Amino acid sequence: MIRPMRPVIVAGNWKMHTTPAEAGELARTIARRTNEPGVVRVLCPPFVCLTAVRDALADEPAGRGVAVGAQNVHHEPAGAYTGEISAPMLAGLATWAIVGHSERRRDAGETDELIGRKLRAARAAGLRTILCVGEQLADRDGDRAIEVVDRQVRGCLAGANPGLAGGDPLGFTIAYEPVWAIGTGRNARGADAAEMAGAIRGTLAALGFAGGGEDVPILYGGSVASSNIAEFMAEPSIDGALVGGASLKPDEMAAIVARAGLTAAARAAAA
Ligand code: PGA
Repeated sequence: MIRPMRPVIVAGNWKMHTTPAEAGELARTIARRTNEPGVVRVLCPPFVCLTAVRDALADEPAGRGVAVGAQNVHHEPAGAYTGEISAPMLAGLATWAIVGHSERRRDAGETDELIGRKLRAARAAGLRTILCVGEQLADRDGDRAIEVVDRQVRGCLAGANPGLAGGDPLGFTIAYEPVWAIGTGRNARGADAAEMAGAIRGTLAALGFAGGGEDVPILYGGSVASSNIAEFMAEPSIDGALVGGASLKPDEMAAIVARAGLTAAARAAAA
């Protein structure tokens, strides 16, 4: 059976950067500079900037094809959780959400079990989700990277229905982000990222995902820049990038999305 072509996705994670005014302007500029119809583009600003980014993109003709995502969601739909934001609250503001980013695992003590609950809460609210996984440097050096990521994927998906994507090719995406590569300027090698993507799909197959996980887009993240995006997009098992620091720079995003567009066009031609 021929598997459906996987989409090519470039998501920008702005982390704790930009005021609402700056975010609207940045989103507009990035939308104009990345107008590449073959690439699914997602911008994930801080919560307080979601409205500004949504409105800026709606006003900008090139912005209509850019989706807005949240960087996190709470695992409950509502309740006594001071300072938190739930998935249903994002209605009308965001259509995507990142869950399990390593900075939240590190700073907010998020466990695989909690991340799994966030993932299910986000999907239940209709959000498209990007689940982040990735090993520490000691795990990579100790030859445990695949084992660690396998454990994370299983831990986050325990109790989840393998039909998590709900028939939406963009409903459930995994971002492989080796922790040692995030914000360090030291990216993984394309071949290592591809090997990990293959291993993750093996885990998804073992968990009972239809098609052995072949339908699930897998992104690489960790110091992605215009200078190294080609190395990842050249790997057939990698479907795009989750970009941090470089996603705040329109020139970088323009070049990253342009390179992703070549892969999207090649896939479309081969389909
Ligand atoms: P970076 O961040 O591109 O700045 O390394 C990636 C991420 O944290 O998603």
